[in-house]
Formats: sequence, structure tokens, C-alpha cells
Amino acid sequence: MAYTKELRERLQQTLKEVDEAGLTKDERYIKSAQGVEIEVEYPLGSPARKVLNFCANNYLGLASHPRVVEAAHKGLDERGYGMSSVRFICGTQDSHNMLEERLAEFLGLPAAILFASCFDANAAFFEVFFGKEDVIISDRLIHASLIDGIRLCEAQRDTYKNSDAEHLEKKLQMWQDKARSMCVVTDGVFSMDGMIAPLDRIAELCEKYGALLVVDDSHATGFIGKTGRGTHEHHNVMDKVDVITTTLGKALGGASGGLVAGPAEIVNMLRNRGRPYLFSNAVPPSVIYGALEVMDMLSGSTALRDTLEANAAHFRKRMEAAGFTLVQGESPIVPVMFGDARLAADMARSMLDEGIYVIGFSHPVVPMGKARIRVQLSASHTTEQIDHCVEAFIRCGERHGVIGKGAAGG
Ligand SMILES: Cc1ncc(COP(=O)(O)O)c(C=O)c1O
Repeated sequence: MAYTKELRERLQQTLKEVDEAGLTKDERYIKSAQGVEIEVEYPLGSPARKVLNFCANNYLGLASHPRVVEAAHKGLDERGYGMSSVRFICGTQDSHNMLEERLAEFLGLPAAILFASCFDANAAFFEVFFGKEDVIISDRLIHASLIDGIRLCEAQRDTYKNSDAEHLEKKLQMWQDKARSMCVVTDGVFSMDGMIAPLDRIAELCEKYGALLVVDDSHATGFIGKTGRGTHEHHNVMDKVDVITTTLGKALGGASGGLVAGPAEIVNMLRNRGRPYLFSNAVPPSVIYGALEVMDMLSGSTALRDTLEANAAHFRKRMEAAGFTLVQGESPIVPVMFGDARLAADMARSMLDEGIYVIGFSHPVVPMGKARIRVQLSASHTTEQIDHCVEAFIRCGERHGVIGKGAAGG
């Protein structure tokens, strides 16, 4: 035992500072299945109450969809609970491969490989392909898992300003004769801002300068683009993105699992060298069966993503009319900006009292001074529920001086 007094006191002091800055992550207990109407225990110890959920990544409302749940039950019945193995020992079932093929086809790429999560997919990727001679040039707002994945490899690193293609071009020009290969990394849709990356311009630059383009499309797969293929479909560059990493944990059923899709050699290298693939358990059968059902549902119809698009547009329009400051965009991620962390947390608490479950996001999840409530729309929200949410925002916004008379502005 060496949990020293020094370490304990240091941790206590840091936690106190986090709390004083209003940055403590305050978890609530959900006591129902995930969905638009959920039961939440908050404050902890109080009776659970029904609220409307506006902060899940359940974009298509599939997390508890009867078809997906039934398919997952079938997976459980036919193939059991767990694999008790990594993929290459005895953890691969035919359905794992079937799902990898379906996902690759959906994304319009030659092959795909599953991981326990997209965090793992991103952690696996860079180390396998890049060394000291190479450079990775990433958008400054990429997801934490990409940042960590890039840190795990020895490549040289550089960044460009968020979604700034001109700045990216300068970086590509600067590096083109200094590195064996160049890799450009971006999120398709930025999770905290909901902005869609200018993938058309980025893909063009990658082609011009011979850089591999890697896109994390976790907040796009299943619903961005006219048939929900993702950001590359939205920008009409489906044949110009080399590698896509994405998750099963959001629109595609919301359980867990991630993947890398790309050229066959890249996928095969990951099967042989990707550390989170080689050293972590296979995705369980119920999740695989559920995800296969999701693939069936999305391949046959665009109805869910169409509803989601309409829901997001309706919410944005009404919130702007009410005077809130939103990050502009087209995605179902709608950040309502407050700046101050404590104000965002207080607003979220007041919204919960109004029966709307949203969360304040503050540092380190977003930059200091840019605290917000990130509203996420779902295809399962009805127009009435969205209107109810907007009206609650208006009441709370007035109460906290964010909008209306006495508003501090933005
Ligand atoms: C852009 C992005 N990439 C990766 C991840 C990680 O996905 P997973 O939950 O599958 O690990 C997330 C989840 O927050 C994300 O937003």
C-alpha cells in the first residue's frame, strides 16, 4: 500500500478546485431504457421522475427500438452473452465478419474492422501506419480519442485551425518535402459544435498533396448525407476519403463498438497489428445482431434521418427566434452557448426541473469560457416535445437572465 498522504491531499485539492470552478461532472441515474422519455433519479436518492431526453447520441432513436432489441435478444439466444476471447483466438463469429462487410458497404469503402469502441479504433490506427518519418496534420478540434491515438505513434505532428482549408494547405505545402508520408485527420462532424467539416475542400487538398485522409464520422454515420452514409456523402466525396473511423455507440443503435473502414491492406494490417484489436475482447453477439438489424433498417429507408433533419431545423429556428446564441450548423447537435460554466450547469439543472434533460458542458470537454448546453435531437422526438423543450429553455433563460429583459447577452 502506498497511497500516500501527499497524493491523497493533492487529489483532494484538485477536486476542490474543479468543484469551485463549477466543473464537477454531476452524474444522474437513468432508471429506464434509453429513449426520448426516460426516468431520472436526481438528486441522487430522490424518486425517479419522467423527463424528456435531449442529450443522447440516440440520433435515430434506435437505442431501444423494438426491432433492434428483438435482434439483440436473438443474438443472445443463438450465440450467448459473451465471446470470452479476442477476435484472433476464438472470438470471431460469422456474424462479426458479416457486420464488417455490411458496414464497409454502407460507408462505400472496401473493408472494415470492428473494435470494442471507436475510442479503441482511433487508439489503434495511427501507431500501425506512421513512424518518425511521417507527419500527421490534424484539425485543432478533433476528438480526444484521435488525439490520444496520434500521441501513441512516433510521427511528427502538426495541426490546422478548425475547418480551415487554407491553413491546412499551408501546412501540407510546408511538410510535403519533409515527410515520407502525410496524413490528414479530421472529425466529420465536430461533437461539441455540431459543425460539419469542409470535407470537399479537405479531400481535394489531400488528393493534390498526396496525403492520406482519415475522418472520424462518429457523429454522422447513419444520418448525415442524403442516405445517411456520413459527411463524405454530404459533401459528395464518397470516393475521396481513404479511411473512416466511426462508432456503433451513437446513431447505429447506441450500444458499443467502433470500426475502421478503408482499403483492404489497411484493415488487414489492423487485424495483425492493431493493439486494441489484438488485446481486447470481441464485440458481444447481441450487439452484433442488433447492429446487423440497424444496417437492414438504414439500407432500406431514409425516413429516420429525414425526420431527424426536420427536427433539428425546427429546434434551431425556434431557439434562434427566442434569442439564444447557437453555434450555426446543419447537424442535430445544437450547442446553446452560455460561456460561463456555472451558468450552463445552473441552466441545465433548471431545465431538469422543467422536465427536460440536458447537460452543461464545460472545461475540459470544451475550451475554458465556452460552456454550453449541447442539445441533441433525435428522430424519435415529436414536434410537440421539441416545442416543449424550447418553451422550457425560454422560461429558464429568462429566469437566469440569458434572454429577455436584463439579459447579459450571448
Ligand atoms: C468523434 C468521436 N469519436 C470517437 C468517439 C468514441 O466513440 P466510442 O463511444 O465508440 O468509444 C466519440 C464518442 O464520444 C466521438 O464523439
